[in-house]
Amino acid sequence: MDYEKHLSDRALGMKPSGIRRFFDMAAQMDDVLSLSVGEPDFDTPLPIIQAGIQSLQNGQTHYTGNAGRPELRKALSIHLEKLYGIHYHPDHELFMTVGGSEALFLVAAALLDPCDEIIIPTPCFVSYQGVVQIAGGITVEVPCKFENQFDMNPADIAAAITPRTKAILLGFPCNPTGAIATRETLLEIARLAEEHDLIVVSDEIYDQIVYDGEHTCFPTLPGMKERTILLGGFSKDFAMTGWRIGYACGPEAILQRMLFMHQYVIMCVNTTAQDAATAALQVGEEYVLEMVEEYNRRRLYIYQRLKDMGLPVILPRGAFYIFPSIAHTGLTSMEFAEQFLQQEKVAVVPGSAFGAAGEGYLRICYASSMEKITEAMNRLERFLRQF
Ligand SMILES: Cc1ncc(COP(=O)(O)O)c(C=O)c1O
Repeated sequence: MDYEKHLSDRALGMKPSGIRRFFDMAAQMDDVLSLSVGEPDFDTPLPIIQAGIQSLQNGQTHYTGNAGRPELRKALSIHLEKLYGIHYHPDHELFMTVGGSEALFLVAAALLDPCDEIIIPTPCFVSYQGVVQIAGGITVEVPCKFENQFDMNPADIAAAITPRTKAILLGFPCNPTGAIATRETLLEIARLAEEHDLIVVSDEIYDQIVYDGEHTCFPTLPGMKERTILLGGFSKDFAMTGWRIGYACGPEAILQRMLFMHQYVIMCVNTTAQDAATAALQVGEEYVLEMVEEYNRRRLYIYQRLKDMGLPVILPRGAFYIFPSIAHTGLTSMEFAEQFLQQEKVAVVPGSAFGAAGEGYLRICYASSMEKITEAMNRLERFLRQF
């Protein structure tokens, strides 16, 4: 049967991610030491798990309203106000999504018509280009450079703006580089957004995993709340990747359209996850601090090891990734990752997976035990001796 003729152009246009072959290869090998997956190695803190169990035992096995439980939305509104002094009305300006992933998809679908452009600083999270493509939009990648600590250069962003630009999608703290955007840079981006009347989408899913310097919540900048969609989630900060819960906040006129789509596609976020997330906001802070302290210990260790091996590397300031350059080896990042996997059985992600600007780098995730990180670094050191 000719299935292609039955498929939409949109579906046929989707390509497998360039690193699928690499992950297929890793999946077929035994005893692979993996620093490739972007999720906390910690289990969800116990009181949060218990809140989920309690919810089920109390018979909370039904749908909730589309936007999510009122008590959760209220707790989230209070949480953001406490952290950043920004107020989102729990009934009109925020709603719960299936992870930051669904929020990203909705925002692309809500903002982009075919051929509309969205500027994305890269290297960036792998889904950004994918959701833009599904929406029919066009991604305009703007490289963030090593020599600029992987922060954005506002002049480069300005140069990428065209009459078709609808929005800028920021992802800081950054997966995969660990960069945070400085307040000065963000103020420049805010100025550009105002000047060109653009929407800013700020994916701040790693907002609590910050070590040096301060994370600026983009909508808190003067005049930005009214033109920003803030995306966040529980996966990274609270070690809740498997629960699948996140959120979107922003101007009611945009959020409402996103919520209409959410209503037809998802209905509502898993009820157990919502009740667990409410507990996370109420009692999770001390656990987040503990996890961040441990990530920090690993961050400093892995940074020093990579430096001692002679790899050009920037000390990450947020999230749990480090992004060393391997350009001097003469291998592409894919070749390097494949050979490293085959010879040393360690999986890391080729930088090219995160956009063209990631070529020549590797993403190493240090949300893994010290023991595994140490062993992986020993093997990397051995592997590098051949170059
Ligand atoms: C930058 C960034 N945004 C969003 C997500 C999506 O996370 P989730 O759907 O688990 O909330 C991820 C996951 O890796 C990420 O790294």
